[in-house]
Amino acid sequence: MRILSGIQPTNVPTLGNYIGAIKNFVKMQNENQDADILVFVADLHSITVPRDRKDIKKNIRSLAALYLASGLDPNRTHIFIQSEVHEHAELGWVLECNSYIGEMERMIQFKEKSAKEGASVTTGLLTYPCLMAADILLYDTNLVPVGEDQKQHVEITRDIAIRFNNKYGETFVVPEPMIQKSGARIMSLQDPLKKMSKSDPNPKGYITLLDDINEAKNKIKRAVTDSIGIVKYDTVNQPAVSNLMTIYSSFTNMSFDEIENKYSGLGYKEFKEDLSEIVANELTKIQTKYNEIINSNELDKILDEGRDYASRIAYKKMAKVYKRIGLGRY
Ligand code: TYM
Repeated sequence: MRILSGIQPTNVPTLGNYIGAIKNFVKMQNENQDADILVFVADLHSITVPRDRKDIKKNIRSLAALYLASGLDPNRTHIFIQSEVHEHAELGWVLECNSYIGEMERMIQFKEKSAKEGASVTTGLLTYPCLMAADILLYDTNLVPVGEDQKQHVEITRDIAIRFNNKYGETFVVPEPMIQKSGARIMSLQDPLKKMSKSDPNPKGYITLLDDINEAKNKIKRAVTDSIGIVKYDTVNQPAVSNLMTIYSSFTNMSFDEIENKYSGLGYKEFKEDLSEIVANELTKIQTKYNEIINSNELDKILDEGRDYASRIAYKKMAKVYKRIGLGRY
């Protein structure tokens, strides 16, 4: 079985990315000893909107180091940078020619992001799901661990794979999304109806894995709640508290019932104080490891190994794709 996923190196990953994706990669790595696991830095994806060159460079390395600092083990998981395996872009093009503008325009993320960008929406923002499909299909991926917001993109990947197989003969494995029951959609700390996002203009709405620890604690303490005053998991009437409970539960493995019992009769203050300590401990652990890794040669060796491993698989798959279509001299 092969498991694959990636994250865009835009800004530093948030608690949303960590709980919805990275923690899940680590769990799958530790629970599936026989699985072949690839996790990559989706740098080609990060240029669908304009970015500063220096930021891109810094964030690529930083994300790779954060994968390791969060518990991905290079002896188990191949970690690589997407743009270093050129077949991603090549297959992306082939899949663009086997998908339709109408289905790309229906993607929720395209609709939301293009509404924000106004007139300057790039073509890449529209065709992005084809590149993501290429990332997945190049490797005969069976399972794709992602947060809720990427489910639609994995579904369109399935549609494209099935269509291609029907047209050209069996070429791609049809993948399944792997979405956790809890924590697949962490919300903003300032607006519980909005997803926590690393591109939110209000930094109080999100915590990144490299935030200053005291700042992170303050963001939890100042997170919006409600006037009900009871720690209760009720996403309809108490979405903000429920979101904080999801973070709490994810870091402590306590169930919502256990958390409710622990804080019954107590207000939000104690709950938020405790949660701020819990988050601070988790971030401190990650940041300590991160600081050991970020400037090491070891990181480059791991990324070289990951690139070489991924390239060997991607090369073969791409030759098969070209052969099926009739391109080149295969
Ligand atoms: P990206 O970089 O936006 O997000 C990375 C991962 O984090 C999850 N996520 C969240 N989970 C819970 N709560 C949130 N608030 C939250 N925000 C983000 C995302 O669902 C995702 O799993 N296109 C992808 C990257 C990608 C990819 C791939 C993933 C490119 N190619 C192939 C899997 C397979 C993206 O932009 O994710």
